[in-house]
Amino acid sequence: QRYKDLDSREKMDPFAEQDAWEDHQIGKARLKFGAKNKKASDDYQFVFEDQINFIKESVMAGENYEDYMHPKAAQDAAEKTALEELQEVRKSLPIYGYREQLLQAVEEHQVLVIVGDTGSGKTTQIPQYLHEAGYTKRGKVGCTQPRRVAAMSVAARVAQEMGVKLGHEVGYSIRFEDCTSDKTVLKYMTDGMLLRELLGEPDLASYSVVIVDEAHERTLSTDILFGLVKDIARFRPDLKLLISSATMDAEKFSDYFDTAPIFSFPGRRFPVEINFTSAPEADYMDAAIVTVLTIHVREPLGDILVFLTGQEEIETAEEILKQRIRGLGTKIRELIICPIYANLPSELQAKIFEPTPEGARKVVLATNIAETSLTIDGIKYVVDPGFSKMKSYNPRTGMESLLITPISKASATQRAGRAGRTSAGKCYRLYTAFNYNNDLEENTVPEVQRTNLASVVLALKSLGIHDLINFDFMDPPPAEALVKALELLFALGALNKLGELTKAGRRMAEFPLDPMLSKMIVVSDKYKCSDEIISIAAMLSVGGSIFYRPKDKQVHADNARMNFHTGNVGDHIALLKVYSSWKETNYSTQWCYENYIQVRSMKRARDIRDQLEGLLERVEIEISSNQNELDSVRKSIVAGFFPHTAKLQKNGSYRTVKHPQTVHIHPNSGLSQVLPRWVVYHELVLTSKEYMRQVTELKPEWLIELAPHYYQRKDVEDDASKKMPKGAGKAAI
Ligand code: CDP
Ligand code: MG
Repeated sequence: QRYKDLDSREKMDPFAEQDAWEDHQIGKARLKFGAKNKKASDDYQFVFEDQINFIKESVMAGENYEDYMHPKAAQDAAEKTALEELQEVRKSLPIYGYREQLLQAVEEHQVLVIVGDTGSGKTTQIPQYLHEAGYTKRGKVGCTQPRRVAAMSVAARVAQEMGVKLGHEVGYSIRFEDCTSDKTVLKYMTDGMLLRELLGEPDLASYSVVIVDEAHERTLSTDILFGLVKDIARFRPDLKLLISSATMDAEKFSDYFDTAPIFSFPGRRFPVEINFTSAPEADYMDAAIVTVLTIHVREPLGDILVFLTGQEEIETAEEILKQRIRGLGTKIRELIICPIYANLPSELQAKIFEPTPEGARKVVLATNIAETSLTIDGIKYVVDPGFSKMKSYNPRTGMESLLITPISKASATQRAGRAGRTSAGKCYRLYTAFNYNNDLEENTVPEVQRTNLASVVLALKSLGIHDLINFDFMDPPPAEALVKALELLFALGALNKLGELTKAGRRMAEFPLDPMLSKMIVVSDKYKCSDEIISIAAMLSVGGSIFYRPKDKQVHADNARMNFHTGNVGDHIALLKVYSSWKETNYSTQWCYENYIQVRSMKRARDIRDQLEGLLERVEIEISSNQNELDSVRKSIVAGFFPHTAKLQKNGSYRTVKHPQTVHIHPNSGLSQVLPRWVVYHELVLTSKEYMRQVTELKPEWLIELAPHYYQRKDVEDDASKKMPKGAGKAAI
């Protein structure tokens, strides 16, 4: 048979026989080599491989190979070929040429800084190389990612490349979702999760290699990890530590890690033509949409990547694009719209990696996640409005807010680079060259310098690290921010006067939540309403929106939403009502549709709630319910969120109680028309105004009762004789 096939191939290509013979020789050599220490299953493996080669040859010769194969074997063969194809792709990545050198460098040095262009294969390949080189025999290879979507999608990709089921040899772990098993040797996780793992395993004993990936992003957790793993590496000489980054400021990492060697390798970059706008854009969303459509009708094929700041913007852009495309008629070629943001359900995440069908164009609407964490092949055009959503923190007032902020030059460069990965590309910056040169900062400020530090301080304290001022920060946070965090933890009762962890603090640290949320849960034990409180905490932690508001059914949707607000109970209780009603219908999907509620968000809330319930058990808090006493629920909320309180002003705005600042109730709140005199809020968001989101009414005397270290009587004196706006003060209490 074999000869016959070779004969026919020879006719097609005079060199084919030579090639086939060489292949055959290699095959033989492999057989010999493998034969020494081989099990029966390997034997089969080889025979099988041989068979596949034979089939391939038959196919080339134009024969129908299915006749020769058992259907199961045929399917296996198809999978095998897909795997082989993936192996080819792996070999085509820039990093592949440096595989041996890299492995050698890892062998020779304990700490290594790795620098390579985005998309060159660092995240997907390095862990596999280490696995192939045997590092996983001594322990897991852990690889941290700043973003959960990246951790999930990269793990899925690597599992595919290795031909294993996700969650087996290759897994991921993100907050509230652990997709690993005893078998897992390559573990992708968010940097925050590794930080949490350290609480249970301070020396990371189960790891042989830790890769802190996307180090250039300098997230808060990454920066804290730096300090911790640097220390662990000192007393664990067998632990390999790789710091990997996509930008060239590697010296800084090297200096920090006791002048660790830098392993840098070139990527494959094609020229990218940069275009600026001639005048500033008034509305960057609109400009982005127009630019996408212009590219679509004018420019040669190639996919488009648009950077937007968040889920809401992405959803709006998607809707407008769909509308406009419809308006353009049928002569336009197909435009496939793929959104990608942190809360995008995993089944939709895979869609962005699917190859674009011939003749069509794909437009990816992404948050910053596509800047370096995720590489989408085939992008030729980048549209960069120049903004991202960033946390900003005022250490003086302790207030944190999400702001849409101009990006840095370093970010702009990364974004543009995404257009030139597989061929020459174009980048459309929706700002002027003057803006770029004069207004953009060189680099993004590391998160540790612009965030509330309460949760990491609590984590560090529970790791036994007390001297925070002298913690080995790569870039130290402002001292004020540290002090503020300590003060808050003290006021929450997590630390005592000496700055030591209290029993409550120890319990709070068990929850992967902001300390204020953890406090709310821990306190609910006292008010016998832990059942209600973990439902609320879960609903607040979902991330995406709970309510669904389709453009053509806004009135219905709003009515449905207001049903949960009956009696002006406040947004927290409304969330609780949504959850309990859904539970009563036995978690019905139909019920969600009828009430304009996002099924996916609810499912996630249920998952989170289950985990919180498990954690309650761990800190020995019993599930207790106090359904008729909603004030107990409110008091638990205030016991956690007392720093977030505001008092109504004569003009209908609010002033925060402790560090006076003007704020407003978010229009989506059930209390936005009610205007209670005193409120507690979950978070502040700055859009056109500083808005409080998720608001509940409180009684001012609770502040003294629940937070005596924080509030004095004068803070909460309520001058009721002052005239209040009409309709004010009609809430539930
Ligand atoms: O980490 P780095 O930016 O160096 O590259 P990578 O994330 O390892 O990506 C290497 C290649 O894998 C790129 O061509 C990606 O398009 C591909 N990849 C993919 O197809 N699907 C994923 N979920 C992740 C990566
Ligand atoms: Mg990467």
